[in-house]
Amino acid sequence: MPTKSAKYQLTNLSTGKSSELESFSPTVGPDVLNIAPLNKDHGLFTFDPGFMSTASTESKVTYIDGDKGVLLYRGYPIEQLAAKSSFIEVAYLLIYGELPTAQRLAEFQSSITRHSMINESLLRFYNGFQYDAHPMAQISAVVASMAAFYHDSLDIYNARHREIFAHRIIAKIPTISAAAYKHMLGQPFMYPKNDLDYCGNLLQMFFAVPCEPYVVEPVYAQALDLLLILHADHEQNASTSTVRLAGSTGTNPYAAISAGIAALWGPAHGGANEAVLEMLEEIGTVDNIDKFLGRVKDKQDNTKLMGFGHRVYKNFDPRAKIIREACHKVLAKLGRSDNPLFELALRLEEIALKDEYFVSRKLYPNVDFYSGIIYSAIGIPRAMFTVMFAIARTAGWVAHWQEMISDPGMKIGRPRQLYTGQTSRDYVPIEQR
Ligand code: SDX
Repeated sequence: MPTKSAKYQLTNLSTGKSSELESFSPTVGPDVLNIAPLNKDHGLFTFDPGFMSTASTESKVTYIDGDKGVLLYRGYPIEQLAAKSSFIEVAYLLIYGELPTAQRLAEFQSSITRHSMINESLLRFYNGFQYDAHPMAQISAVVASMAAFYHDSLDIYNARHREIFAHRIIAKIPTISAAAYKHMLGQPFMYPKNDLDYCGNLLQMFFAVPCEPYVVEPVYAQALDLLLILHADHEQNASTSTVRLAGSTGTNPYAAISAGIAALWGPAHGGANEAVLEMLEEIGTVDNIDKFLGRVKDKQDNTKLMGFGHRVYKNFDPRAKIIREACHKVLAKLGRSDNPLFELALRLEEIALKDEYFVSRKLYPNVDFYSGIIYSAIGIPRAMFTVMFAIARTAGWVAHWQEMISDPGMKIGRPRQLYTGQTSRDYVPIEQR
């Protein structure tokens, strides 16, 4: 139980009825108010659409300070993990809570490698999709169908079963994603290769073809590893909250992850990386920026500056800063420093950050603003950008699902509402309507 920090008094000024509320203090960040007495003592619910000021759970996985632009995975600053760690090591950290020893990391890597193949029956699911089916629709369906394969070997209250699920889904999500991509191309599915690391294997499954050898380009693998680290977790974002809410019913964890994939797909969330590239291509040139920003500011026009703004960050998203720097390095290494979309994105950011509309609303670039530039440079098509986000975020979803399910105090998530519909009324026979 968190430590109590302060007492508050709530008084109904019309009846004089009063009760004390207690707050809990976190290890870092704002105190939270325990509102349980509100309903018991006053018959009240809280009302907070979009959960702007609501802590839905206690967690030890990730901490964000939106005003200072701080992001910690299990206490480790994202800047240090981006510079020194690997996605596999970060996935271990998120799931187990500590950085692994060399031996534990090798064991984890080996387990992930050995779980990377998918059941051959799963491959037949892809034939049911049109070639142009969105890959997020494909992977959410295929991940959900994994519940049909593993429902009998998964007691979610058994720690070892939970661990096997964690390894399985982290290992298989790249294979499932690559299969969706190959289906879109009409190319044969490429099996994972156990002599490649996580990102090398992902690139191989995406871009190799049976008729010729494929050599992993280290620049691509390093850039991909960095992007997966930066997208791995982010506290109680919409898709993670979806995984928690679905998982709180005790459903099969593959079904809960599939629900998270569906939530991530939205353009307000993980789908923004795809929308940013569409926006940059729509703007086309620097000369069109002012006209486009005029549309963004026009309340009659539903145009948003995609890749900008964040529910929590009211300062720079630290991930956006790291990705922007990585763009410079990756494009330079690939001899494409003059990437027109990157140049346009830099100018758009520069202009927007001086514009009162964005400054007054504390709208800064978020993780999605630059990530698509790197994915494109690696050769990943826009339709697959959000899938890349899902591959990374699977590690965070698993960490949060495990944290919730292993909590003996877990309750099913069941919010209440402010009802403003009809009060009770009698049925009217059709001839009298
Ligand atoms: C991700 O939650 C997470 O942690 C998510 C994420 C993660 O790692 O899981 O960080 C990943 O989802 C990043 C966000 C990607 N989405 C986009 O880039 C889409 C564009 N951004 C917006 O849709 C918006 O900024 C949100 C959804 C991200 C945040 O919306 P909020 O917190 O509900 O903010 P809001 O809509 O209340 O905005 C406040 C004001 C409004 O204007 P006013 O009504 O005050 O006049 O800012 C405006 C908004 O209209 N605004 C924008 C804007 N974002 C907010 N105006 C133009 N362009 C934008 N992008």
